[in-house]
Amino acid sequence: MPVPAATDDLTLRRGAARVLLANWTGTSTVPSRALYPHQWSWDSAFIAIGLRHLSVRRAQRELESLLGAQWADGRVPHIVFNPAVPLDAYFPSPDFWRSSRAGATAGAPPGTETSGIVQPPVHALSALLVHRADPELSRRRGFLPRLYKRLAAWHDYLTGPRDLGCGGLAAVVHPWEPGMDNSPCWDGPLQRVDPTAPDSYRRADLDHGQPAERPTDLDYGRYVRLATDYRDRRYADSGGDHAFAVEDPCFNALLIVSEHALARIATETGADAARHERRAAQLTAALVARLWSPAEGMFLCRDLLEGELIAERSVAGLIPLIVPGLPRDVVDALLATAAGPGFRLGEVPMSPSYDFTGHAFDGSRYWRGPAWFNTNWLLERGLREHGRAQTADRLRTSMLTAAGACDFAEYVNPFTSQPRGARGFGWTAALTLDLLVAARPSEIAGCTTGPANGVRT
Ligand code: SER
Repeated sequence: MPVPAATDDLTLRRGAARVLLANWTGTSTVPSRALYPHQWSWDSAFIAIGLRHLSVRRAQRELESLLGAQWADGRVPHIVFNPAVPLDAYFPSPDFWRSSRAGATAGAPPGTETSGIVQPPVHALSALLVHRADPELSRRRGFLPRLYKRLAAWHDYLTGPRDLGCGGLAAVVHPWEPGMDNSPCWDGPLQRVDPTAPDSYRRADLDHGQPAERPTDLDYGRYVRLATDYRDRRYADSGGDHAFAVEDPCFNALLIVSEHALARIATETGADAARHERRAAQLTAALVARLWSPAEGMFLCRDLLEGELIAERSVAGLIPLIVPGLPRDVVDALLATAAGPGFRLGEVPMSPSYDFTGHAFDGSRYWRGPAWFNTNWLLERGLREHGRAQTADRLRTSMLTAAGACDFAEYVNPFTSQPRGARGFGWTAALTLDLLVAARPSEIAGCTTGPANGVRT
């Protein structure tokens, strides 16, 4: 494998560390100083995975501060607002979400302003990896015992009130929740949503991002409408009148892996690990039963309002490669699809966020084609899980090359690795640090019970 030279590694490590130091606020890390000046949920989880190589204490703090803003119903908000940041620096701002008032019934904390929606549950996996970076410090600070109840409540929320399809999977109620805001997967479901008038709010993102690399105004109008309606329903999940309700394979794959991690955390803290292993097995069976498409050779999203799978192929459908115990035929088909013309894993530098051959592919626009570092990091992990070390090594090398060349950009063009979106992006820097760790143990598998959990199609 062509490993980058040691000096390159050192330069990369220093560059990544510089980004993480610059983005650190004292209690957490902003994804980007300009475009995203608050704390984001799944960003923090990925950031802690890399930050543990710089400072385990900071990595612990990152997760503690996020989970400190958890609501009493168990939800972990997708943004925790920094009160020192001016209101007009980011939209939708705290005065839009009004969490402490509109979310009071759902248990929003009174002293902190947050959004009212969620993001993918990478947190238990992240907490376990942070713990393993320095178990002695972790035990001395009571890190896992303090986090365990919060993480368990978070998963209870997702598998309880958020099982909107009553099929054993967590549903998302806003395109921001699966984290892939303008994925073509949402184009169909969003047709039902009446956009809020563009002159009733101001998009702060366009102060810092190129319009051609961001979601459109029409997308934003729909995002604002969905968030307004949810807020005005006091962030209640029951009632059955969500205009957008989708089961997403990436969101649920991360929940499964985190549920396995929670079992390990439970063992460490003396809690009931078997409960979490059981739930991971149930979620895995539901993932295959509800979202697997044998015809496409990948997982698809399910539109709960139509009761049908969405015929769009995004990278979300390949992320279940990280889930242990999938049936062999599913794994083989996923690996073939990942290497095929849609995603060209092992051929292009990094895999795109949406099928290269798809009708909506756009190599520059946010989640409609560009390659992202977090999804490619997950694919790299998945490849190792399944013994594809050579392809994983190639992907790792091209991610490191791209990260160094693009100033740790938010995303890149998947053909050329040209930077797109924000520069100095938190999880790009953090996951670079993680990839640089010479020994690449199969950490995700290390938090599972392995094939004994296998489900059959
Ligand atoms: N990704 C969204 C944004 O662009 C929010 O989570 O602001």
